Amino acid sequence: MTTATAEAKSNIALIKYWGKRDTRLNLPSTGSLSMTLSSLGTRTTVTLDGALESDELVLNGTPATEDALSRMSRFLDRVRRVGGFRERVRVETDNNFPTRSGLASSASGFAALSLAVTHAAGMDDDPDRLAGLARLGSGSAPRSLLGGLVELQPGVAPDGSDCLPRQLVAPGDWDVRLLVAMNTPDEKEVGSSDGMERTRRSSPLYEGWLRGNRVDLEVALKAVRDRDFHTLGRVTEASCFRMHAAAMGADPPIFYWNPVTLATVRLVRDLRESGVAGYVTIDAGPHVKVLCRPGDVRTLVEAIRGIKGIRQVIEERPGPGAELINASASGPASAG
Ligand code: PMV
Repeated sequence: MTTATAEAKSNIALIKYWGKRDTRLNLPSTGSLSMTLSSLGTRTTVTLDGALESDELVLNGTPATEDALSRMSRFLDRVRRVGGFRERVRVETDNNFPTRSGLASSASGFAALSLAVTHAAGMDDDPDRLAGLARLGSGSAPRSLLGGLVELQPGVAPDGSDCLPRQLVAPGDWDVRLLVAMNTPDEKEVGSSDGMERTRRSSPLYEGWLRGNRVDLEVALKAVRDRDFHTLGRVTEASCFRMHAAAMGADPPIFYWNPVTLATVRLVRDLRESGVAGYVTIDAGPHVKVLCRPGDVRTLVEAIRGIKGIRQVIEERPGPGAELINASASGPASAG
């Protein structure tokens, strides 16, 4: 048996990825730019065990649902093919997100799983191959392999070999903050893969979204290079609203917002009029994240906490890339 444990933090896109150029290989049509978080994340222990008949997944101490297990197993089948091993795998994974938060965990989950399983299987440490594997699990997962501010280009190669993450700013090199305003999740949400595929197939706004994304990414990359916070904030909001507009234009339409989402957006925009510089972004769920600078954190947190329906506000800063915690090999499991 061999085992390995890895940790990865979640990441939030400032310039969004929404739409795939290849659904089988999970290749994005759009480039994206994200911040890897400092606290919210996943720790995963993987054990390759020749005695297991099927893969196993324990999520926060409880056996996972059939759906989660089969998604993971399909992913592990591809890792087994690439790595040339046959053993089934036991995966124990813990998210430190507040329970039932409705915050996406697939990016940190697949980044941690990819790192742990490749080490447990004794595959070499090639970072590009690791990014390619993580991407097969979730399109945003390669970004969680690196810390700080990270760009992921869509690439053009049919096999995805040029779709690789690149660190733009190391953690600690630019002190910006992201406030995660946890809102009450609605019961029914459309998962990101289904949502982006429906948008691509049926939204007349999708082509405009793609064109806008290319320009937004260029503007954001320059703003990051110049450490121009306001330009980065403005283009962050634009990218978010353009992505959601394209999704709302799908058939049937996709709405991720609820009234608390909108109340948070309005508050942040009103505060901006009075000189408090926060900029919002929203993913495939109702929570609002606010990009800001350290000096405005306290005012923003207090104001957002005052909105009815906000459960918690978590302060994040640019955090570390995925890390291997330990890896070991041992003899065959003892009987019983
Ligand atoms: O990687 P996925 O399938 O969870 O998709 C991520 C989609 C968004 O969170 C909405 C945007 C992004 O770039 O993270």
